Amino acid sequence: MPKIIIFDTTLRDGEQSPGASLTMKEKVIVAKQLAKLGVDVIEAGFPIASQGDFEAVEKIAKEVQGPSICGLARTTKEDIDRAWGAVKHSKKPRIHTFCATSQIHREKKLRKSKEEIIEMVAESVKHARSLCDDVEFSPEDAARTDMDYMCDVVKAAIEAGATTINIPDTVGYAEPEEFGNRIKYVFEKLGELIKKNKVVISVHCHNDLGLAVANSLEAVKNGATQIECTINGIGERAGNCSLEEVVMNIKTRKDFFKDIYTGVNTKEIFRSSQLVSSLTGISVQRNKAIVGGNAFAHEAGVHQHGVLSHKSTYEIMRPGEIGWTGTNIVIGKHSGHHAVESTLKEMGYELGEKQISMVIEKVKDLADKQKEVMKEDIIAIATDILGGLSKEEEIVKLDEVKVVSGNKTQPEATVTLVIDGEAKVGEGKGVGPVDAVSQAVRKIVDPSIKLKEYNLKAITGGTDALANVLIKVQDKNGNIFKAEAVNEDVIMASAIALIKGMNKALNFQRKGDKQ
Ligand code: KIV
Ligand code: ZN
Repeated sequence: MPKIIIFDTTLRDGEQSPGASLTMKEKVIVAKQLAKLGVDVIEAGFPIASQGDFEAVEKIAKEVQGPSICGLARTTKEDIDRAWGAVKHSKKPRIHTFCATSQIHREKKLRKSKEEIIEMVAESVKHARSLCDDVEFSPEDAARTDMDYMCDVVKAAIEAGATTINIPDTVGYAEPEEFGNRIKYVFEKLGELIKKNKVVISVHCHNDLGLAVANSLEAVKNGATQIECTINGIGERAGNCSLEEVVMNIKTRKDFFKDIYTGVNTKEIFRSSQLVSSLTGISVQRNKAIVGGNAFAHEAGVHQHGVLSHKSTYEIMRPGEIGWTGTNIVIGKHSGHHAVESTLKEMGYELGEKQISMVIEKVKDLADKQKEVMKEDIIAIATDILGGLSKEEEIVKLDEVKVVSGNKTQPEATVTLVIDGEAKVGEGKGVGPVDAVSQAVRKIVDPSIKLKEYNLKAITGGTDALANVLIKVQDKNGNIFKAEAVNEDVIMASAIALIKGMNKALNFQRKGDKQ
């Protein structure tokens, strides 16, 4: 019974989602959770892309045990050497090299002939194999590549030593039957070679037409044994194949997917989804399959009645199977320390003693204000503290915020900041109170630093919910800095996040070193 290899690319393709950049610390936390989830391969990044990416892949390779750790590389010696430099520290390193093969990519992007591409692929795979026993090759935009030419490239890659061949639908163009036939064709044409060399056939589907999961499952039906996917389906444009959906299809429909299984511990799915959502700031849509807030909610009276009489009338999976335990009230006014620590541990947050005390202090503070503190609140507070600045990095400190707002007055803010030890007061007007605060802060700190993105989320329901503000600011050279803050007051959360972002930009300017 073939095991389907789950290749997680949350930290590489997922991290390429618009707005989802993670710090090194955050990437390591996610990678450790992926190991707990039981994925087989973690694609940890694209080491040539930046020094930060290289260091994150290297750290994950050194610290995360269990899955193979993979680094992406184009088909050049420089890329492959860089990827190897980062993944070689893992007990199970993998190099993943790719080159576009479709006519449009060959002509408009690479400007190379079919023969030149085959030569480049063979040489690169051979070089990667001289460094690493586990080498994956992907013909990028395979789903729009002439099938015979695609097979010629794949053949060259296998003959050069590739151990996994991944067939990507890079732009999410394929239909399930068509994509399944493509995989079938690979086996028909190269079956002998694949078998002789024990090559794994993998698929990597994007979701532009909403078919990434269907296409991946169809590929499996036609012999593929590795699926590339991401938590919550995040990724470029409309995203990648969603890990939780593909895994739960295979598990829930054992009757249909008779001969296959995955090694994923599905009880870790919900936790992984929440962690990725809170660290990337990309919320999970309410009606998202498997992990959405409504996935196990039964609103309609007739459904509730059915579920109460017998769960399987309307429930095809039990919430516990994905580790969903309901909304958890973990702490009231008088409880706390242990609940906070165990929640953090359970979620894979590795905080130092001092950081844990900071989380506990904030949680107690929140509980004192009559609020029941939920698990989600604790996670938001911990994420906030994790992205905090050291004392030395706090060039700008917030002293006071005052706002005047209403339906008959233009919102105005007066903000007092302490910059390099000196108190400065600024005033701003805006379309709303948050905008007014932002104008006032920028005026006194540095008007050239612009607010590029602003996201506001209520962590739990209710008017007393914690507000989570995630922002991005951009300095005059185009560098982007992400910051997050949680507070019971939306305006305070916004001011704190903005000042954090400003501090990151100022530190970068002063040190000439990216945060
Ligand atoms: O979508 C794609 O083609 C990719 C490759 C690098 C596999 O992400
Ligand atoms: Zn991709």
